[in-house]
Amino acid sequence: MSTLASNLSLKAFRAAFLDFTDDPFYVAESESVRYLADGLLIVENGIIRDFGTYDKLKAQYSDLPTTTYRDRLIIPGLIDIHIHLPQMEMIGAYGEQLLEWLEKYTFPTERKFGDKDYADKVTKLFFDELLRNGTTTALILATVHPDSVESCFEEAIRRNLRIIAGKVMMDRNAPDFLRDTAQTSYQDTKNLIEKWHGKGRLAYAVTPRFAITSTPEQLAIAGELLQEYPDVYLHTHLSENVKEVELATQLYPACTDYLNIYEQYGLVGQRSIFAHGIQLTDSEFERLSRAGSAIAFCPTSNLFLGSGLFNVDKAKSAETPIKVGLATDVGAGTSFSMLQTASSAYQVAQLRGQRLSAFKALFLATLGAAKSLSLEDKIGSFNIGNEADFVVLDPRATPLMAFRNSIAIPSTLEELSEQLFAMIILGDDRTVSATYVMGDLAYGRSGE
Ligand code: GUN
Ligand code: ZN
Repeated sequence: MSTLASNLSLKAFRAAFLDFTDDPFYVAESESVRYLADGLLIVENGIIRDFGTYDKLKAQYSDLPTTTYRDRLIIPGLIDIHIHLPQMEMIGAYGEQLLEWLEKYTFPTERKFGDKDYADKVTKLFFDELLRNGTTTALILATVHPDSVESCFEEAIRRNLRIIAGKVMMDRNAPDFLRDTAQTSYQDTKNLIEKWHGKGRLAYAVTPRFAITSTPEQLAIAGELLQEYPDVYLHTHLSENVKEVELATQLYPACTDYLNIYEQYGLVGQRSIFAHGIQLTDSEFERLSRAGSAIAFCPTSNLFLGSGLFNVDKAKSAETPIKVGLATDVGAGTSFSMLQTASSAYQVAQLRGQRLSAFKALFLATLGAAKSLSLEDKIGSFNIGNEADFVVLDPRATPLMAFRNSIAIPSTLEELSEQLFAMIILGDDRTVSATYVMGDLAYGRSGE
């Protein structure tokens, strides 16, 4: 770096850094975790230009003004691969399991998004909340109203966020005020894809809510849209609740199981993301693995709705490996925080007699989630060439965390593992000191 002019677009960040170079479910943590206790990240026009230890890079970038985060850990921006934007205001709705919860709380709340001004207001709060929690990418369900997707993408582009979203398609088993038809859902979805997919950092997901709320004609339309636009995503729910599985398979009597419904309509592929997958059979796990589809593991939601315990070891087995990412599933999920979500994931694993290490949990919220969205060449790690979305964490954010994590910056992987685990169990939005989007500060905790 010689001239001042060429330095103007460069930014340097110095701190401890943690990310993944491989999948710790299949490769030893000593080989898959990348930890730099004193690292330097160089960003040029929002893209990671260089990354390494401070010692190695300092001479090369000595004339760059550097933002130093002392006693902080920087990780890649967190990725939430399944969240319902319009359900933000009904988080913590009491007393029901899935199907009754949808009827009683969800549908009346989603109805309000028929009003674009209202949708705009909630959407702003929603993105504020994501950033306060260090989430820089999300796979989002809007409502059946096309304008709800307009609100979502307008706000995402204003904030330069990498966001995938879609209009919910549902043409049966929902109140009239929330139903579309197979034909209108086709036209509305097509218009939204044409307008938004690939614009800035945005991408579209064809989003039939789940098999119960779509007629066979509508699922066929969803399949046609995927044929027409092969690089959009497919996003839906699968096998969450026992009563849901019974009803879905009754509604599609010719299908052999729940996944087969989506298979029949060409919805199970490498860009398909299925939320939950709690009640899956061995055969369904195998077919998801072969198809290269992803599952969104939504532990706080699964506990809150009493849906069940996702079998993460089975999904990540070497025999039938499936892409898995963590997700909040707000408003059935009880927190926007991916740290809290990781904490619940650990507890779900415990209840199944499984162990989810701190590194594995963080992988599912960063590189694992990026892989689930086929975005690992853009986000989820500090690889050179990736977009510079990252989060500055304070391991000692509260008095209790300061007491628990007496050393701010560990020197070994073992110490880091223990510290990260305590951050997951005790952490939440207070742990997030700052959130950066494409190298720009998008959120800073007051006092930082
Ligand atoms: N299945 C169909 N719709 C929904 C929803 O809104 N939330 C959850 N958790 N599951 C669903
Ligand atoms: Zn959901």
